[in-house]
Amino acid sequence: MPVQIFEHEPPYRVGVIIGSLSRDSINRKLANALERLAPPQLEFHEISYAELPLYNRDFDADYPRAAVDFKEKITASDALLFVTPEYNRSLPGALKNAIDWGSRPWGENVWAQLPTAVIGASPGSIGTAVGQQSLRATLSFLNARQMTSPEAYVHFTPGLIEDDGTVTVDSTPEFLTNFMAAFYDYMRRVLAVIPRS
Ligand code: FNR
Repeated sequence: MPVQIFEHEPPYRVGVIIGSLSRDSINRKLANALERLAPPQLEFHEISYAELPLYNRDFDADYPRAAVDFKEKITASDALLFVTPEYNRSLPGALKNAIDWGSRPWGENVWAQLPTAVIGASPGSIGTAVGQQSLRATLSFLNARQMTSPEAYVHFTPGLIEDDGTVTVDSTPEFLTNFMAAFYDYMRRVLAVIPRS
């Protein structure tokens, strides 16, 4: 029997956090593709963190404007999609810095209870598997809700995704479409029991 769930009114605001600051990021291309292939009820907005200084706890008493804005954008999201490369078998340092900003001051962690999905692309054949695990461990500690299945490790070959997000290899659009459909389903379920205030 289908589970009856409370319907959050669409659109669902999905914050996109790209783990790369590179101009030519393949992960940004992947994010563009995911946006194109996602259910129409999802509305995407990229949350930038390039302007954040390096976090240290001396800022806790007086957060800089950039960090306040960053936290507000997270809080205004219904769900978060992390699209990230792997750096040295972990998550990129700039992304970890942004997550640290969002987790503090103590007691003001913005990641808690947010539905999240993690995906990434790499030119290497094991994709971003290890980097994603590092990110998942941090999100877990911060009490974010995580879609744990399906997983998606995109092996990025030249031309796989064009700049505008068009996917050129036949089986990939279906795979990414299914990933986003599963994420939509997952966030609806989380938001049904943990609505955003
Ligand atoms: C990498 N790269 C990489 N790739 C991988 O599969 N596993 C890894 O551990 C690393 N480590 C790593 C460290 C650093 C500092 C850099 C700059 C790169 C290669 C990486 O996957 C490749 O550069 C991607 O293109 C990065 O993603 P964006 O920036 O294009 O989105």
